[in-house]
Amino acid sequence: MAVSRICCVLAIFFSLVLGHCVLNIEATHHVYRNLQTVSSSSSNQPYRTGYHFQPPKNWINDPNGPMRYKGLYHLFYQYNPKGAVWGNIVWAHSISKDLVNWTPLNPAIYPSRPSDINGCWSGSATILPDGKPAILYTGIDPNNQQVQNLAYPKNASDPYLKEWIKIPQNPLMAPTRANGINSSSFRDPTTAWLGKDGHYRVLIGNKRDTRGMALLYRSKDFVHWVKAKHPLYSAKGTGMWECPDLFPVLSKSMFGVDTSVDGPFVRHVLKVSLDDTKHDYYLIGTYDAKKDKFIPDTGFQNVNSVLRYDYGKYYASKTFFDDAKKRRILLGWVNESSSVADDIKKGWSGIHAIPRAIWLHKSGKQLVQWPVAEIEKLRANPINWPIKVLKAGQHLQVTAITAAQADVEVSFEAKELEKAEILEKWMDPQVLCSRKGAAIKGGLGPFGLLAFASKGLKEYTAVFFRIFKYQNKPLVLFCSDQSRSSLNKNNDLTTYGTFLDVDPYTENLSLRSLIDHSVVESFGGEGKAVITARVYPTLAINDEAQIYAFNYGAADVKITRLNAWSMKKAQIN
Ligand code: FRU
Repeated sequence: MAVSRICCVLAIFFSLVLGHCVLNIEATHHVYRNLQTVSSSSSNQPYRTGYHFQPPKNWINDPNGPMRYKGLYHLFYQYNPKGAVWGNIVWAHSISKDLVNWTPLNPAIYPSRPSDINGCWSGSATILPDGKPAILYTGIDPNNQQVQNLAYPKNASDPYLKEWIKIPQNPLMAPTRANGINSSSFRDPTTAWLGKDGHYRVLIGNKRDTRGMALLYRSKDFVHWVKAKHPLYSAKGTGMWECPDLFPVLSKSMFGVDTSVDGPFVRHVLKVSLDDTKHDYYLIGTYDAKKDKFIPDTGFQNVNSVLRYDYGKYYASKTFFDDAKKRRILLGWVNESSSVADDIKKGWSGIHAIPRAIWLHKSGKQLVQWPVAEIEKLRANPINWPIKVLKAGQHLQVTAITAAQADVEVSFEAKELEKAEILEKWMDPQVLCSRKGAAIKGGLGPFGLLAFASKGLKEYTAVFFRIFKYQNKPLVLFCSDQSRSSLNKNNDLTTYGTFLDVDPYTENLSLRSLIDHSVVESFGGEGKAVITARVYPTLAINDEAQIYAFNYGAADVKITRLNAWSMKKAQIN
């Protein structure tokens, strides 16, 4: 009672101050937004992004319920309206016509019912056969149990989908003594798919002891859900599976298909976000619709050998089918690498990666990812180098672009394979990248780009290749070395890396880096591997930042292509 009276007084106060009259419970969420100050000027906020999605302030994590509806893209995301650390989680909501420029709306789903009073956690949207969307999300109930809830748009003819109604039957899926589900490990419903039997299926992330699993539920009406006896898939020792995602990819095409599409012409991808490692892993395999099982081509025998969407900082991702452009789009959260104290000081934490189109490589063995074409609308001041040799030990500056907000595409021809270092025994690629960082001279490589380089190269983030000879064959290492990215050593300066399935005898080594104030999102081998890094230069900020192409190997390499652009600012929210 006392609390609501205080709220009321505060609401009147803010209404007067802000010139709004908002007094009902719904409106407290309007008050949140009105209270948000727009970020401070760029001079004291050098790490805010120019074209990577982020709200004006506060904490964000997972993308939720992405979809295209009545010509607009909708993005919901986990958001703390009250601070730069995780907590008080609501579904913030933004819309876009192009996946690049975003307009914020009021939070769409926020704690208001017993079934979500302690938080509205991640979930997904499903477009039902009548064309209307439904959102399944995890709510945290008064006992701090994780349960699954359903919300529908209040007015489906509103393309903005501003208001959502939680159905009275919530929660629809809950842990009980009978089903034995662990109530603190039961979350993040996927987009549902419709089987040929007319029943929907949905996956919920779960674990039993340390066995991670994707629980399967079925429903005929989207309201009554029955847990299947067996999970769709599980793997021992992998811990909690957060934000699972299951989707079909065409075997022989870059086009995407709706989540319910099945047949001999598709393969299925199962992605899980492992809470223990905070990485997103995917398996390619077969979905057996009769048994409701996923049979991976190669499973979780060893977490280190499972493919990842991104070998840097990238988590809790989710895909959706874009029916306008017939593609599958991947969205993901990129957390900070700065200390919590620094996050609180700057007043915000977390960004989203540039949306990526995702499809199956023609080998069938891995996915390929590429930034959505729409991002290229932001390109300005094109730079195009003639073919040139980058001599051993040389670095050349990429001039005449805004180096702190840029898009760079470069291709290297590295043919002197006899100069490649020999790798005697197999090593974890991330460990190899940190032992053989950019500053360590090699045989064939390291060569690549120095982003956020300061004058005199006291600071830089190096994204590069290094070619080894392993068992008499070339082996390409792809690294993002953050060890010298900042003079502020309170940041996480981990060096990331992976091997890249490219044959340097027959293909050039391509690299594209999307550079944006505190993020370097790098695509190697035309999207065969991606590494995203968060960095906080102290010298190489804004106009002080530079970009170089470099080659610190013993052999010359040839730059067969270098195109670079300044990137214009997007309306990021
Ligand atoms: C993943 C996650 C989800 C959960 C949400 C809470 O980052 O932990 O499992 O639903 O974030 O914000």
